[in-house]
Amino acid sequence: LALQVLTKGLVVGDFKTFKEDVIAAFDSVRKDGSGEITTYIPGLSTYDTNKWSVSFCSVDGQVVALGDYKDTFTLQSVTKPILYGIMCDAVGTDTVHRYVGKEPSGFGFNKIVLGYGDVPHNPLINIGAITVASLVLPDESISDRFEFCYSKYKDLACNMSPGGISFNNVVYLSEKHNGHRNYAIGHYLLNKGCIDASSTGRLMEILELYFQLCSIEVDTRTVAAMGATLANGGKNVFTGEEVLSKNTVQNMLSLMYSCGMYDYSGEWSFEIGLPAKSGVSGVIMVILPNLGSLAMWSPPLDHYGNSVRGLGFTRNLLSRFKNDTA
Ligand code: DON
Repeated sequence: LALQVLTKGLVVGDFKTFKEDVIAAFDSVRKDGSGEITTYIPGLSTYDTNKWSVSFCSVDGQVVALGDYKDTFTLQSVTKPILYGIMCDAVGTDTVHRYVGKEPSGFGFNKIVLGYGDVPHNPLINIGAITVASLVLPDESISDRFEFCYSKYKDLACNMSPGGISFNNVVYLSEKHNGHRNYAIGHYLLNKGCIDASSTGRLMEILELYFQLCSIEVDTRTVAAMGATLANGGKNVFTGEEVLSKNTVQNMLSLMYSCGMYDYSGEWSFEIGLPAKSGVSGVIMVILPNLGSLAMWSPPLDHYGNSVRGLGFTRNLLSRFKNDTA
C-alpha cells in the first residue's frame, strides 16, 4: 500500500467505497478494550477506555468522522512534528538540525540520552522536542512564543474544521506539576550545553512552552484536517493557504516515517509504511501523501505507548486495500 500511496496508485476518488472500508475497519476493533491508559500525567488518567473515534480528511476537503468524534483530547506528542516544522520554516532546517538529529533513538520517548554529536537523536522524542522548543523566539515574551506557535496550529487545522482547536489547562497544569522526567531532561540539556539557556528561569520557560504545546486540545476531525494539510504539501485543504513550506513538510514526513511511533517505529514503517505520529493521550495521526490524513483516538495504549485500537484499525484498513488490489 505504501508504494501505491507514494506513487498515487491508491486513488480515493471513489470516496464512498473508501468510506465503507474505513467504517468496517473502525467496527473491527471497537470491542478491543485491551491496553492501559496513561497515568504518569494525572490529567490524562481519567479517560473512558471505551472512547473510540476515527476521522479522515482528504486533500480535497472531504471528511469522514466516526464514533466519539465530538470528544476532545490533547495532542501530546503529535505536537512534536508540528513544532519541528514550524521551527524549520522559522529559523531554517539546517539551524534546527544543529541542535537535533534525524535518527530513531531506539529508546523510549522519555529516555535521557543524547545521540551522535551530543545532540538529541530526533525532534519527535521528549528530549528533542524540548530542544526545538528552546529555539522559539528566545528574545520574546512567553505569551508571544505561545501565540507564535498556536497561530500556526490553528492555520494548519483551519477554524473551518468543525472540531476546532483549544487549550486544556488541566492537562497543562498536570504536566507542569508532575513532569519531573521532563524537568530532568531539561536540566540534562542545560548541563550538556544543548540548549542556549543561561538560567534555570529560562529553562522553565522552555519547558512551559513544551507542556503548553502538548496540551493543545483537539478532536479527531481537527487532527485529520491538520494531517491533510501535511498530505497536501503544507497548503491548508480548506483555505489553500500555505501554512508550511513543501520542503519542511517533506522533512516532517521523513522523520514521522522513521521516528513517529516511539520505539515501534521500525515495525510500523515495515508493516504500515506511512508517516505517522502517536501521542500518549491515545491519538495517532497518519499521513497518506497526496490523499489525506487519518486521525484516530482511543485512550488505552500498548506497551510502546501507541493506541491499541488505532494500530488495529490501521492494520485492518490496509489489509482491505491489499485484498482489493491483489
Ligand atoms: O512530555 C510528555 O511526556 C508528554 N507531554 C508527551 C508524551 C508523548 O505523547 C509521547 N512522545 N513521544
